[in-house]
Amino acid sequence: MKLTPEEQDMLNGKHGKAAKKSMEILTTLGEIFDANCMVDVSSVQIAGVSYANLGEAGLDFLDEMAKDGKVKVLTTLNPAGMDRENWQTLGISEAFATNQIRVIDAFAKMGVITTCSCTPYFVGNVPHFGQHVAWAESSAVCYANSVIGARTNREGGPSALASALTGKTPKYGYHLDENRHGQVSIKVAAHVTGTDRFGVLGKIIGDKLIRLGKNTPFITGIPSATVEELKSFCASVATYGGTALFHMEGITPEFERYPKPSGGAFEINQEDLEKARFTLIDDELEIDFVSVGCPHASISEIRKIAGLLKRKKVTKEFWITTARPIKRVADEAGYSKIIEDAGAKFAADTCCVVAPIKGRFKSMIVDSAKACYYGRARNKLKVKIGTIEECVEEATK
Ligand code: F3S
Repeated sequence: MKLTPEEQDMLNGKHGKAAKKSMEILTTLGEIFDANCMVDVSSVQIAGVSYANLGEAGLDFLDEMAKDGKVKVLTTLNPAGMDRENWQTLGISEAFATNQIRVIDAFAKMGVITTCSCTPYFVGNVPHFGQHVAWAESSAVCYANSVIGARTNREGGPSALASALTGKTPKYGYHLDENRHGQVSIKVAAHVTGTDRFGVLGKIIGDKLIRLGKNTPFITGIPSATVEELKSFCASVATYGGTALFHMEGITPEFERYPKPSGGAFEINQEDLEKARFTLIDDELEIDFVSVGCPHASISEIRKIAGLLKRKKVTKEFWITTARPIKRVADEAGYSKIIEDAGAKFAADTCCVVAPIKGRFKSMIVDSAKACYYGRARNKLKVKIGTIEECVEEATK
């Protein structure tokens, strides 16, 4: 790899031990993927923040980097294992909380903004079209590449931190035009609305891409999509298909930039959509947990939930997972009071997947196909996908 004098200095240790280690990680990655050079990144989003995932080994690595490491670009965090202010109410143990705080403190020492969210684009970490970034959360990577038209590979925790501490990433993969064109045409001949059905669509397309061994779908037939629907689609297609980039005709900014994929289109009809939706509803459900906000809820979704919960009382554990700055907007708007008066709980900074909830609940209803996948796989829950309205109805039954 051709390095600039500044990058070479970092590699030689002139900028300290953490920058040296970071440049070693990035050059190794660059060599593996045949990158010719580094590219400057405008922001970083780091995943692997929950102590449940990191453990002591991960924490030791962070402590080591925090000895002299300082971030060079705007850097935010993925959800942690708990709400940093409200963890007791959510049933998190003191031992877990202590360790989670140690993790967040290590990031803070390096100058990371400790907003823990998988929707950094809602809370100020938002690149513009064509900017290079180094993000790690799969749903946010897909959103940044596809919906914003920024450029990022799907980073791991250590490589994202290395980019934060150097402001660089190796230029390969989705940073290059040649890897951003659509590979397979998908025609949606179905009426798709709502975060739940966009998530189901993401599952169908993700599953199909895995079977075809392809990465980047070129999707037609969607007349419009809200930001919330797109974030749900991104989370799902990234989960089921490992997809980091898609193009959607008339919706995403790069859909006309590259030649359309050759060959016929694979079609998804209404029956396919409903059948796939059914696969995200388990038998013998005893729903005792409701969660909305995967990816983290927008202010518009929180407003909707507040409207649905007015003058109602919840009868089951109901979490609304969101970024703390969005929760603060909800506080000011009066939505939080309505939601909390009804007995629902905000779980800011965290989510139903990364919080240590295994064994606490039997069955969960969510509006997210991604949360269904991880609810089953990681937290051993039975799951049901539903609209936000159905989630609230279940919570207040
Ligand atoms: Fe975000 Fe957790 Fe879903 S990190 S995308 S809310 S699984």
